[in-house]
Amino acid sequence: MFNTVAWKDGAVRLIDQTKLPTEVSYVDCKDVEAVAEGIKSLRVRGAPAIGITAAFGLALAARQITDSSFEPFYKNLLVQCDLLAATRPTAVNLFWAIERMKQLTLSLKDQALDRIRDILLAEANTILEEDISMNHRIGAFGADLIPSGAGVLTHCNAGALATGGYGTALGVIRSAWAKHQNLKIFADETRPVLQGARLTAWELHQDDIPVTLITDNMSGYFMKKGEIQACVVGADRIASNGDAANKIGTYSVAILAKAHDIPFYVAAPTSTVDFDMASGDEIPIEERDPSEVHTIGGKEMTPKGVKIANPAFDVTPAELITKIITEKGIFEPKEIRSAR
Ligand code: MRU
Repeated sequence: MFNTVAWKDGAVRLIDQTKLPTEVSYVDCKDVEAVAEGIKSLRVRGAPAIGITAAFGLALAARQITDSSFEPFYKNLLVQCDLLAATRPTAVNLFWAIERMKQLTLSLKDQALDRIRDILLAEANTILEEDISMNHRIGAFGADLIPSGAGVLTHCNAGALATGGYGTALGVIRSAWAKHQNLKIFADETRPVLQGARLTAWELHQDDIPVTLITDNMSGYFMKKGEIQACVVGADRIASNGDAANKIGTYSVAILAKAHDIPFYVAAPTSTVDFDMASGDEIPIEERDPSEVHTIGGKEMTPKGVKIANPAFDVTPAELITKIITEKGIFEPKEIRSAR
């Protein structure tokens, strides 16, 4: 098994997801700039994983800020919070983790700085461990929704690679697989960055869970043939009305699921719920570099100069979501605010 994010010898160690599946290698981020670069360039990605990484990034920053009194130390830490917050706009877990580290630091202002540094590192480890245990709970709740023999479709990667470990949507699939080993898992390849093809397929393969990889435009075909009985995806931000942002293409899968009367589940920890946001219309959607669409594996796929759009996420309205599976239980999307 691999660690997606870990503290190792005074650095933040990430499995480099840009290299998977052909190369399993790790990158040691030795300063907060390297951590920010790792998030921005998708070496680490997935909403919970980037939150955890930011928490370790701030623990690292705290060790490198040399001030000897609280005020300048905290001021410098806030600069690093801003640097990390500017990496990716959509996943709320990033801002949630930064805020948790900030509030903890403020609550410790009367303590010795070295003690604050130690407590911040311990907190980042706690966020990591809490995430893994939440995912196991999500998996246990969600497994009850997956019938024996079902075909289950997932989109993007909401697995161990996108979290502290075990995964949210893949946590549900792992737990359901442990219960009845007769499921047929389908993974969308997830253009443009291929998180499904490169990461979900790799992760499930590592666990000996059979997976059938399909291109993004095949899901309707398999739904119509009656081969899919449930869709399970993760989320980057869930608004308080139950609308959920996730990887681009998720909305299309939800529409197809509705048309075929197939349940569509969103699996996410409550750290992904933005309780202060009224609706999904307010979720900022990251626009990524056109080169992600222009090339596949470094090879040019489009005519030079052609206009390209590259929104990284879309929002699935609550009406299309059958249930939201969290570590606190299973919610009607419209009732997700009661998970606070
Ligand atoms: O751009 P990415 O790879 O960070 O997008 C990730 C997703 O959309 C995941 O489905 C989501 O973060 C849930 S991860 C448990």
